[in-house]
Amino acid sequence: MDSSFDTQRSGTPRTAGRGDVLVTGGAGFLGRNLCATLLALGYRVHAVDNFITGRRENIEPLLAHERFRFVECDIADPRFPQVFEDVPLAEVYHLACPTGVPNIALLSIEMLETCSIGTFAVLKLAREKGAAVLFTSSCEVYGQPEVCPQPTEYTGNVNPVGPRCPYEEGKRFSESLLITYVRKFGLNGKIVRIFNTYGPYMSPTDQRVMPQFLRSIRREEELVVYGDGSQTRTFLYVDDLIRALLLVMKEGKSGEVFNVGGTEQITITELGNLMIALTGYQKGIEYRPHFTEDHTSREPDVSKIRSLGWIPAISLEEGLKRMIAFQAETVSEGRTQPVAVGTMAP
Ligand SMILES: NC(=O)c1ccc[n+]([C@@H]2O[C@H](COP(=O)([O-])OP(=O)(O)OC[C@H]3O[C@@H](n4cnc5c(N)ncnc54)[C@H](O)[C@@H]3O)[C@@H](O)[C@H]2O)c1
Repeated sequence: MDSSFDTQRSGTPRTAGRGDVLVTGGAGFLGRNLCATLLALGYRVHAVDNFITGRRENIEPLLAHERFRFVECDIADPRFPQVFEDVPLAEVYHLACPTGVPNIALLSIEMLETCSIGTFAVLKLAREKGAAVLFTSSCEVYGQPEVCPQPTEYTGNVNPVGPRCPYEEGKRFSESLLITYVRKFGLNGKIVRIFNTYGPYMSPTDQRVMPQFLRSIRREEELVVYGDGSQTRTFLYVDDLIRALLLVMKEGKSGEVFNVGGTEQITITELGNLMIALTGYQKGIEYRPHFTEDHTSREPDVSKIRSLGWIPAISLEEGLKRMIAFQAETVSEGRTQPVAVGTMAP
C-alpha cells in the first residue's frame, strides 16, 4: 500500500455547518468543483485523494477554509476508514477513480483496486455511519453501445477482456457492489453515470479530448484527432453536472440510476474546429490512427434526471469560453505564453 498516507494536513473542520460530507477523489476535476460547491452551501467537507490523477493545486485554495478537511490517502488502504472514526458522516460522494483513456493500460491495476477494494471500503464506512452514498459511475459501463441514446435500463455491450476493461468493468463492479449494499443492508445509495464533462480544474495534463486540444493550442502544435474524427460525443459543463449530483443526492431514491450528460452530439472534428474558432488558433487538425479501441458514439438518455427538474444551463460554446479563459489564467507551458483572455475570438 502507498506509504504516503498523509494526515498531517488534515484537521477537523472547525465550525458547525450543515452536516459532514465525504468526497472521495476530492482533488480531482469534479471532486474539486464539488467540494467548493458543498462548502458554499454550508456543509463541513472532508475530502480524500491519493493524487494518482488529481492535483494538489486543485485543493490548496480550499485548505484554509474552516469547514474543509483534506486527507491524502488511498481509499484501498486499510487505514482509510480510521480517518473517519469520530466523524458523523451524513453523505458520501464517491468519486475516486483513476481516469483518462491512455491511463487505462498504465493504471489498470489501480483502477481495478480502487473500484473493488476502494469501493468496498467506502460502502462499509457509509453503512457504519448511516450515510447516504452517491457513486459516480460512467457512460463507459455501456461499452460500445448498440442503442442510441442510451437509457439507464440498457445493459451495454462491454468486452470483459477488451483493452478498456479495467475502467469499464471496474465501474460495473462498483455499481454491483453499491446495489448489493442497497438490497442487502438497506444502504441509501444512488448511481450517476456521467457522460463527458468539462470545465475549470480539469488537469492541463488530463488525457481527455478537451484538455488535449487546449494543450496542443498552448504548445502551438496541430490538434491530434485519433481515428477519422467522425466519432460523436456529447459534452456537459461542470456546473451543470455538480447541480445534478446534488439533486440526485437529495431527491433520488435509493437504488436509482441516473444518466447525466449533454445531449447535443458533436463530432470530434467539429469540436476541434470550434476550439480553433474560439481561440483564433492558426494550425489545423492532424488525424492519427486510434491507439486503442474507441467508441463510435455516446449519448445519454437524460429523461430520468430531467424528471427531477434538472436542465443544463451552459451551452457548449459558453462553457468552452469559460474553460479556455480559466486555463489561460492558470496554465503556462514551455515557451508558449498563455493566451490572454481578452485576445480570444468570440
Ligand atoms: N469528468 C468526466 O467526464 C467523467 C465521465 C465519466 C465518469 N467520471 C467519473 O467521475 C469521477 C471523477 O472524475 P474526474 O473527471 O474528476 O477525474 P479525476 O481523475 O480528475 O478525479 C478522480 C480523482 O480520484 C483520485 N483517486 C483515484 N484513485 C484513488 C484512490 N484509490 N484513493 C484516493 N483517491 C483516488 C484521483 O487522484 C483523482 O483526484 C471518477 O470516478 C470518474 O470515473 C467522470
